[in-house]
Amino acid sequence: MTPVSFEVIKVEKTFGARLGRLITPHGVVHTPVFMPVGTQATVKTMTPEEVESLGAEIILSNTYHLYLRPGAEVIREAGGLHRFMNWHRPILTDSGGFQVFSLASLREVRPEGVLFRSHLDGSTHFMGPQESMAVQEALGSDIAMAFDECVAYPASYEEVEAAVERTTRWAEECLKVHKRQDQAVFGIIQGGVFPDLRRRSAQEITSLDFPGYGIGGLSVGEPKSMMYAILEELRPFLPESKPRYLMGVGSPDCLLEGVKRGIDMFDCVLPTRIARNGTVLTSRGKLVVRNAIYARDFRPLDPECDCYTCRNFTRAYIRHLIKANEVLGLRLTTIHNLYFIFRLMDRIRQAIAEDRLLEMSEEFYSRYQATEG
Ligand code: GUN
Ligand code: ZN
Repeated sequence: MTPVSFEVIKVEKTFGARLGRLITPHGVVHTPVFMPVGTQATVKTMTPEEVESLGAEIILSNTYHLYLRPGAEVIREAGGLHRFMNWHRPILTDSGGFQVFSLASLREVRPEGVLFRSHLDGSTHFMGPQESMAVQEALGSDIAMAFDECVAYPASYEEVEAAVERTTRWAEECLKVHKRQDQAVFGIIQGGVFPDLRRRSAQEITSLDFPGYGIGGLSVGEPKSMMYAILEELRPFLPESKPRYLMGVGSPDCLLEGVKRGIDMFDCVLPTRIARNGTVLTSRGKLVVRNAIYARDFRPLDPECDCYTCRNFTRAYIRHLIKANEVLGLRLTTIHNLYFIFRLMDRIRQAIAEDRLLEMSEEFYSRYQATEG
């Protein structure tokens, strides 16, 4: 018996978008879902109560960061990640298979894993499927991700093929060594932008029968149109009854386009990261509230938003806080951006339920200016 199960409640008529329920040891998650990122056991600037009140049902945290600091043993001693950070709803942990490739220096990929130097102090470490599973078991997340190899874009066919082969071998190894009965392991599909490698990875990974599947190696610099094409390519190879998680994707337009292509779960640092940079998401597109043109703009960030920030503060005030390096500025923009994304996901789920995702999408794009990329 898997500790995490998934029910498809409804398949929408125009695109086949899915409404579902993900049932975990720490509660139920309504899909399609956006998971905010709490890399270092905190969604930056927010208390867990705030994250929950904004609408989060599940958060993501990172094996790589928590392994380096404070270390898996500290979190095990605390009674696991839920207790350590006082978040008692579901947690998904990424395996480190992405962070090792994007953050660490001096990587050396070996058959059993990756030798790398910490981005914190340059110390040398080794992480492979066994190490990643051991750390994720110590963290006690509801969903652990398999240890994979994510290749940057662009990469040659041969490089991506080698990563697909390693990712399958490592996925098998993860299943072999994983023991925790109250934690699920999701497999990850790689294959870059090569359709045949994507098909091959999907077939190999799904043959291992994980309770859910991550789609990795996307949103790594390729054009959005290529990412959408790959999602369409993969779709026939993914089991209907399992959750599909598009890793590292979270701009409003990509969330909508992902859902249209059958995706159930997303995570991204984008809403929280751009917030701390002074950029907010609005129904018209991104707004750089840091800009001088907002110095005397006494309107809310988004006049159509009813979040705590928009009900109480102006663009001029928030710009001032950010320019003056006041921490409240970062908190107010983070509150707004997370609320914006959760409200978008609510609207998407509602539209699927009522079979009007096409109308909802047209209405969204008639107002929202997406940026290229
Ligand atoms: N986050 C975004 N992309 C990826 C990926 O390809 N692999 C993993 N493990 N995490 C990711
Ligand atoms: Zn707002």
